[in-house]
Amino acid sequence: MAGCGITAINHCKGCRNGCATGDSGKDGGTNHVTQNSFKAADLVINLATSSKEKPDPSKLVFGSVFTDHMLAIEWSLAHGWEKPEIKPLQNLSLHPASSALHYGLELFEGLKAYRGEDNKIRLFRPRLNMDRMLRSAVRATLPPFDREELLKCILKLAEIDKEWVPYSTSASLYIRPTFIGTEPSLGVKKPSKALLYVILSPVGPYFASGSFNPVSLWADPKYVRAWKGGTGDCKIGGNYGCSIFAQYEALDAGCQQVLWLYGDDHQITEVGTMNLFLHWINEDGDEELATPPLDGIILPGVTRQSILDLARKWGEFKVSERYLTMSDLLTALNEKRVKEMFGSGTACVVCPVSKILYKEEELHIPTMENGPKIASRCLKELTDIQYGRQQSDWMVLVS
Ligand SMILES: Cc1ncc(COP(=O)(O)O)c(C=O)c1O
Repeated sequence: MAGCGITAINHCKGCRNGCATGDSGKDGGTNHVTQNSFKAADLVINLATSSKEKPDPSKLVFGSVFTDHMLAIEWSLAHGWEKPEIKPLQNLSLHPASSALHYGLELFEGLKAYRGEDNKIRLFRPRLNMDRMLRSAVRATLPPFDREELLKCILKLAEIDKEWVPYSTSASLYIRPTFIGTEPSLGVKKPSKALLYVILSPVGPYFASGSFNPVSLWADPKYVRAWKGGTGDCKIGGNYGCSIFAQYEALDAGCQQVLWLYGDDHQITEVGTMNLFLHWINEDGDEELATPPLDGIILPGVTRQSILDLARKWGEFKVSERYLTMSDLLTALNEKRVKEMFGSGTACVVCPVSKILYKEEELHIPTMENGPKIASRCLKELTDIQYGRQQSDWMVLVS
């Protein structure tokens, strides 16, 4: 395949992934070959001489404990991609002018490895993460890479650190691919050096009690997470750094998360770092599961896509990617047409919403009173797949 002009990081016609062919394949470009990528076959492996003690999965604090090894791959304009290396987890050495530090040339991904009830370790739809990462790289002017080769390197890293995948069907190993510009000079420009690395962190259950804890949301249009023409549909670090201030204002207002609104009509977009779903009787009287469309300001969540896929397969009610405004929600609440509202993401799978603080008014969302039927069903079906209780070609085997 002629491939992606991907040497020059130019956007190519007809391709949402920055490649010339426009072929993203099933579940992401499995057969997509890019030129000038690192290759998993070239992996250099330097193992740690000893292994750290594994933590108790029930006491884990998200993202605070890391495994023994990391994957690191250097890139430079002069030499292209170096050989990928798996090595003991270690600090980075960066020039103080590095573009990641000055201009936020940074992106990341988040996915998990699960130890199934059959003791096999699997990744959940990792090609969707690889696709998203390449899209983020193109948008951040970081060099492209072959998504399948990165996935193979990640599978090898997970295999080497497989004892860190918790022996638990409520915990997992969080995988954090990261990509930074390491250009060692000032000036707002494409970096001539970059580093792609992957670290692993065992994580515990999101809902420690084993049952849902619904969240309250703070909806105030004064802060905007993403905007048309911006980078909201990419997992670029700057999107998150800027959101922290609003998150603390939400806490001050007695809420747990921000409900991100957009535009003069106060469109409902996302919840904290989750996509948002509304199960309701819509304005036409139809039962509907709705989530905002991928119009550039929404992160295309892997969990979002999976819930849409499942619900469409159930075929029991309308499933829509459509705009929802606060006024639509207020009317539906007044007319008792709202059944459930929940966030979706890799961390929690689904997270019910019970309250929204909007224009100094507390809106009660009857999610918990309604089961929550759809949220629980999504949680069960997705975790059954993730922990190997139900066979699915969404899972990719590590070992
Ligand atoms: C802004 C935002 N929305 C939604 C999601 C959920 O995406 P996923 O289901 O891929 O974890 C995330 C998490 O990555 C996110 O950061």
